[in-house]
Amino acid sequence: MASDTVFSAINELAAHRAVSGMRPTGALHLGHYFGVLKNWVAMQEEMETFFFVADWHALTSEYENARGIGEFVPELVKDWLVAGLDPERSVIFQQSKVKEHAELHLILSMVTPVSWLERCPTYKEQLQQLQGKDLGTYGFLGYPVLMSSDIIIYRPRWVPVGQDQVPHLEMSREIARRFNHLYGDFFPEPEARLTPQAKCPGLDGRKMSKSYHNTIQLREGMDSIEPKIRGMLTDTARLRRSDPGNPDVCNLFPYHELLTDKATQEDIRSGCATAALGCVDCKKILLKGLADFLAPLHERRAALDQKPERVFEVLQAGTEKARKEARKTMDGVRELIGF
Ligand code: TRP
Repeated sequence: MASDTVFSAINELAAHRAVSGMRPTGALHLGHYFGVLKNWVAMQEEMETFFFVADWHALTSEYENARGIGEFVPELVKDWLVAGLDPERSVIFQQSKVKEHAELHLILSMVTPVSWLERCPTYKEQLQQLQGKDLGTYGFLGYPVLMSSDIIIYRPRWVPVGQDQVPHLEMSREIARRFNHLYGDFFPEPEARLTPQAKCPGLDGRKMSKSYHNTIQLREGMDSIEPKIRGMLTDTARLRRSDPGNPDVCNLFPYHELLTDKATQEDIRSGCATAALGCVDCKKILLKGLADFLAPLHERRAALDQKPERVFEVLQAGTEKARKEARKTMDGVRELIGF
């Protein structure tokens, strides 16, 4: 086959494939669900999907707590299954179990200019934010190279991620392009696929994040969620029950946009603006919505808790499938570079 035929065959394959990963850094919350996971769950119906636990990436900044990362891997996979990832449809695995990611990372590191990495906005930001840690390491600087390897080793078209990962995707495309330029067209250029959804802010209106203590976790029961919702600030200018309110400045309303049907949302909007609906009742509607949303997730978790070996079986089967694909790619890479 001529190389452009090979390339178009690869692109054909890529159009139906998506790859993404998450670092095992803590229990998943609604921000993760509505920002990323919901998209993953939808995409597994549409195409071939590969989802992995990015344990090596967690190590780039948490290397002092390596053991903790390892221990959390099965917990993260459990959260994924609870959220609706289906191991019959998606290849679910652990990054560090597919050593080919490391081999490709090494080769990509040879062709990636250090200046690209130093200029990466997420790199500069993290160096500033995580000042208690020494992030002046080779591995941390190379974070986007490892991420590029994770992605292009499966030659996908799509990478479903949150907005914060877009600069990394840009870099992955540049690295793929550089490889193709040097050794011959081989890797399709991956594209970010953002969740087509309204935002899920934290309970206080800031970004939902463990470090802000403003989350609702997927594993959380309604007894713990209820007081959190009752304590949320709404429109702070609405002092009395008889005052009209404005949903657009309310911390609660974004949750209705995610969890409440369109018609009820409209009723809430007009009820709030005319003072027909009070915040206490508005919160009751939301609590019902949250309970309905979380019920099937809690059921799936209870079922998984009955079968602790299930998560490991899923990872084992996924790792084998991922490895097979990664090996195929690496055979091609070695041939192209002539090793
Ligand atoms: N950097 C991603 C994050 O923090 C995790 C990640 C690692 C990833 N490798 C990836 C995401 C490959 C998508 C594709 O969320």
